Amino acid sequence: TQTAHFQVAIDGPASAGKSTIAKILATDLKYVYVDTGAMYRAITLAAKQAGLAYEDEAGIVALLPKLEIAFLPGEPVQHVLLNGQEVTEEIRSTEITNNVSLVSSYQAVRADLVDRQRALTAKQPVIMDGRDIGTTVLPDAQVKIFLIASVDERAERRFRENQAKGMNPDLEILKKEIEERDYKDSHRAISPLTKAEDALTVDTTGQSIDQVVATIKQIIKDHQ
Ligand code: DC
Repeated sequence: TQTAHFQVAIDGPASAGKSTIAKILATDLKYVYVDTGAMYRAITLAAKQAGLAYEDEAGIVALLPKLEIAFLPGEPVQHVLLNGQEVTEEIRSTEITNNVSLVSSYQAVRADLVDRQRALTAKQPVIMDGRDIGTTVLPDAQVKIFLIASVDERAERRFRENQAKGMNPDLEILKKEIEERDYKDSHRAISPLTKAEDALTVDTTGQSIDQVVATIKQIIKDHQ
């Protein structure tokens, strides 16, 4: 199939640097950035706001038609709106982070969000990051990147992020949480985290953001 607009898919495990890198690339290349993890997080937050248990699959699925998720451009991060309400920070809380893997394992949640994600590619070139973009959401993307980094380095990145937010993180706990989320995201039944056959692996361990951005820009150039 022919895709109308250029598509870049970036997949990989938690805290590999996907959103940081994708956002810079999108700004530089004037593509729209779609953070699909933020969409799964927004649904998880909606469940919390509705007072539902994260295990209540039917209840969460019933919420979907009433939920509007929107992205607004912003610096240094995009703003995420859930039914018009600013939820950018709240969707990154520890509670949401530790329950989003369960909510994102529900078939009807995935089907709904995949439709929304594809709709966002209709009018413009996109760079989209997540877990199943190259395999499921945009199988015809011209560029597919599988972004990885060692667990130690990912935990250290998350540690510094949380410190910068004024939290008092524990490196070992963060490491366990990342490993747990990797495991759940790669072992769920529907669209688990896997490298698409035609994706290129980029290992960001020991690399600066600038180095990774330059590497992927070159890959995009080679595919245009
Ligand atoms: O990228 P992130 O850490 O913000 O994603 C949060 C969770 O959402 C992740 O642990 C699994 C889920 N997710 C998914 O299942 N599919 C995607 N395309 C993106 C995220």
